[in-house]
Amino acid sequence: MRTVVTGGAGFIGSNLVDALLARGDSVTVVDNFASGKRENLNPAATLLEHDIREPFSVEADVIFHLAAQADVQTSMQRPEYDAAVNVVGTVNVLGAAPGAQVIFTSSGGAGYGECTEPATEQTPFLPLSPYGIAKKCGEEYLAGWNRIHRTQHVSLRFANVYGPRQDSGLEGGVVAIFLERLASGGETVIFGDGTQARDFVYVDDIVDSLLAAAGRAGGPYNVGTGRDTTVAGLHAACVRVAGVNREPRHEPARLGDVQRSVLDAHLIERELGWRPRVSLDDGLGRTWAWMKEQAA
Ligand SMILES: NC(=O)c1ccc[n+]([C@@H]2O[C@H](COP(=O)([O-])OP(=O)(O)OC[C@H]3O[C@@H](n4cnc5c(N)ncnc54)[C@H](O)[C@@H]3O)[C@@H](O)[C@H]2O)c1
Repeated sequence: MRTVVTGGAGFIGSNLVDALLARGDSVTVVDNFASGKRENLNPAATLLEHDIREPFSVEADVIFHLAAQADVQTSMQRPEYDAAVNVVGTVNVLGAAPGAQVIFTSSGGAGYGECTEPATEQTPFLPLSPYGIAKKCGEEYLAGWNRIHRTQHVSLRFANVYGPRQDSGLEGGVVAIFLERLASGGETVIFGDGTQARDFVYVDDIVDSLLAAAGRAGGPYNVGTGRDTTVAGLHAACVRVAGVNREPRHEPARLGDVQRSVLDAHLIERELGWRPRVSLDDGLGRTWAWMKEQAA
């Protein structure tokens, strides 16, 4: 299979590239290293260094579209840049390889807002940030292309992803931030009382969902565990994995942070046979082991 991974130098994209190469695909990475890292790149992949804000063409059976401006705060400060990468960039990806299926990576957290119950795909998708608006817009482009051009593009709505190569410099990466501070002896901070809850899904499970969507039609699909973990509970689990005894410092809650975000992923289980396999403790253990290996 000829696969293209946009954003293949990033956190999720580089993990996907490794899995595609391991199953024997020929893989091209399209990335401009805006947030991705050269050391994430698998040397067996071909690199097309390109900014997706400009049109491009590639040969592919499937394009996994993970290149994005993925930071909510940046989208608040620079909505025009966010839209250029996440909306115009997505349109350029749709035009990059006629005949290729595109798998688009959207965000459940950015679209569903406050979840009293796990959000299903029927829950209104009402974004509260330019990042979320752009993701909704990207989904609309895929759905529209499917109607107009009879393509079979698929959108996946991820929960909070964590695992090896996540950048602790980005605000969304709370697992990476906690583990990195615990490893370096630094202070960990919880905003608010720590009862806010998220759906944490391990990156290998996310990679499996992307592989499961290729060659299939349907969606959009939620990709999460359906389980909520409070940030205080996550901190306690990180402390256990790190084997240190550390209390977090509390700071005032941040404006715009929802209290509970959790995704119902029964639809993707029913239709594509995907379900998460890695428990939070196991995933944190694997992430911690990877961090230690990097530091050695
Ligand atoms: N990490 C999460 O928890 C999460 C949750 C929901 C959705 N997502 C989505 O999954 C995808 C991957 O996210 P990630 O966490 O790996 O982010 P990331 O920032 O690690 O990866 C994004 C990649 O896109 C590249 N990129 C950015 N702008 C580009 C441009 N103009 N042209 C070419 N390449 C460009 C970056 O260099 C980087 O390699 C994104 O679409 C993101 O919105 C992530």
